[in-house]
Amino acid sequence: MTTVQPHVHLDPGALAGQMAADVRAGLTSTPKTLPPKYFYDARGSELFDEITRLPEYYPTRTERSILDGHVDDIARLTSAETLVELGSGTSEKTRLLLRALTDAGTLRRFVPFDVDPVVLEEASVAVAEEFPGLELEPVVGDFERHLGELPRHPRRLLAFLGSTIGNLEPAARSTFLAEVRATLGEGDAFLLGTDLVKEPARLVAAYDDDQGVTAAFNKNVLAVLDRELGADFKSEAFEHRAVWDAEHEWIEMRLESIEAQRVHVAALDLDVSFAAGEQMRTEISAKFRREGIEGELAAAGLRLVHWWTDPADDFALSLSVPD
Ligand code: SAH
Ligand code: TRP
Repeated sequence: MTTVQPHVHLDPGALAGQMAADVRAGLTSTPKTLPPKYFYDARGSELFDEITRLPEYYPTRTERSILDGHVDDIARLTSAETLVELGSGTSEKTRLLLRALTDAGTLRRFVPFDVDPVVLEEASVAVAEEFPGLELEPVVGDFERHLGELPRHPRRLLAFLGSTIGNLEPAARSTFLAEVRATLGEGDAFLLGTDLVKEPARLVAAYDDDQGVTAAFNKNVLAVLDRELGADFKSEAFEHRAVWDAEHEWIEMRLESIEAQRVHVAALDLDVSFAAGEQMRTEISAKFRREGIEGELAAAGLRLVHWWTDPADDFALSLSVPD
């Protein structure tokens, strides 16, 4: 069997310490919030993979269709030797890129980078089997903290797909883009997937599917806290909510407390009360317009050189280079 040893920037101890601090801050603020990166334990990654196949969740298949139409352009424009993928997950769609860059004869190395070591290992093994001869350097890390530690190789293409950028708050997003810019050298490029603003009903359906998979994904964060921090959240006592915030142009995922309840978090020595109907924010998923994201890229010192969309303008892939 193939095994790939990941490079670990994020040891479990560091992650646990950060989780404790983040969760304490979130549960003691008004309104309560939970930090989204803790959705992705092994179960969370599995549920997300299921989300990508839901009829309501158009982003994955739309982004794949755009990639399908333009990977050869991307290969030609970048001549990338190293493909780095941030928040790589299963790296499913990424194989289209790996294939095109391999066929173009430039690719030597793939660096998938994810906070979940389990999904990273599975994806690395699958890619190693499909692309023999490709050097694999998987990295376990937090893309909000460890971008500066990425391996420096020439002609890197940094890919950030799935509109995961939309899960960052505006301030965190601009810090993130500045760090992306700082890690890029001449000849490198940044490929970014962004979901676009559209009719709210379709957006809400994508985050509140009929089968309840997104609800299970959202509630999984409670199971993570129960396990990792000795909390006693009962997931049946919360309901999944997905709300379109028209002012900020983002979907907000929330967990609503069905009844008045008290939750104890042993590792934090913390008791938290929820009122009946109280909503706790677990994640945003911002939606973009070309002018907006082009401006944010420019503010970070990145120049957008290509913008590809599907015929319905549902999703966009952009290619940027350091200014
Ligand atoms: N790129 C894939 C997966 C998107 S889901 C796709 O397009 O379908 C988001 C992925 O980012 C998950 O695999 C999750 O584990 C990872 N992730 C979330 N927050 C992260 C962080 N702060 N640092 C590194 N990876 C993160
Ligand atoms: N990057 C994905 C998105 O914003 C993550 C995601 C999909 C998600 N469905 C979700 C996050 C439901 C939280 C809850 O589309």
